[in-house]
Amino acid sequence: MTKRDGGGAMLLEDKVAVIHGGGGSIGSAAARVFAREGARLFLAGRSLPRLEAAAAAASAHGAEVSVAVVDAMDQDAVDRHVAEVTEAAGRIDVALNAVGFDHVQGRAIGDTSLEEYLHPVTGYLQTNFVTAKAVSRPMIAQGSGVILTISTPGARLTGRGLIGNAAQSAGLEGFSRALAGELGPAGVRVVCVRPHAMSDALETSYTSEMFGRIADDSGTPMWQWLDGLVGMTLLGRLPVLDEVAEYLAFAASDRAGSMTGAIANLSAGALVD
Ligand SMILES: NC(=O)c1ccc[n+]([C@@H]2O[C@H](COP(=O)([O-])OP(=O)(O)OC[C@H]3O[C@@H](n4cnc5c(N)ncnc54)[C@H](OP(=O)(O)O)[C@@H]3O)[C@@H](O)[C@H]2O)c1
Repeated sequence: MTKRDGGGAMLLEDKVAVIHGGGGSIGSAAARVFAREGARLFLAGRSLPRLEAAAAAASAHGAEVSVAVVDAMDQDAVDRHVAEVTEAAGRIDVALNAVGFDHVQGRAIGDTSLEEYLHPVTGYLQTNFVTAKAVSRPMIAQGSGVILTISTPGARLTGRGLIGNAAQSAGLEGFSRALAGELGPAGVRVVCVRPHAMSDALETSYTSEMFGRIADDSGTPMWQWLDGLVGMTLLGRLPVLDEVAEYLAFAASDRAGSMTGAIANLSAGALVD
């Protein structure tokens, strides 16, 4: 068993992991931690420069990393990529969907069009269906695998301006739970993580524009609006990318072998179970 720098067995030694949205904030943070934990990585996403930057950071840990431009909304494209990965690596042990995109939050229902409401609902539910469907085939065939999804606290929050985000997040959590039930008998686990907003993701995430608009609309400086989120937490701070990535690596590993159908609350106590 290989040891990490500084000791401790690696969590994902010899595991093959595919990350959709692999160039994004959570996707690239997860890639770095999965690489450090010994995984072979296939990063798929929309823009090649972001994928290459994520691959360079992950390879610094000595991992073998491949990148591919793949539209994670397109079933045929994702199926083709998954077939290429299984051909190259022989298996897929872990699949993380870290796709994210800007959408409307913070607006009253009367000021929200049907299209704006449905955009996150259909988009997030579509991409998670598409990627989970593609990887479920090789995972069922090999009798093992872990599918990781990412929701938001909107699944459990209430208040003005959350309807699209809430429907998307609750829908994705329901999807993850049901999929866990369907794939469990084949030995495939499904874990959803629900992080709160991460302030250190703002530099690179779509959330920067989205939160900026909400803060502007409410006439509040962004830092003050973010302070409002911090005030909702029990820990007096928001989670950070590394914490979410470390949790994803654990959930993907055999050490979490009895965990499936779980929604991991990474909200820093903004929500309690
Ligand atoms: N950031 C947060 O605070 C936060 C908190 C809770 C939950 N989440 C959830 O975490 C997930 C990722 O968020 P993030 O902050 O990491 O977002 P991000 O930094 O904006 O990254 C999202 C990635 O998804 C890629 N992408 C978008 N549409 C795609 C498509 N059709 N096909 C392939 N790739 C596509 C983007 O590609 P480009 O590089 O081309 O833009 C980008 O690399 C989302 O589900 C979000 O709801 C985020």
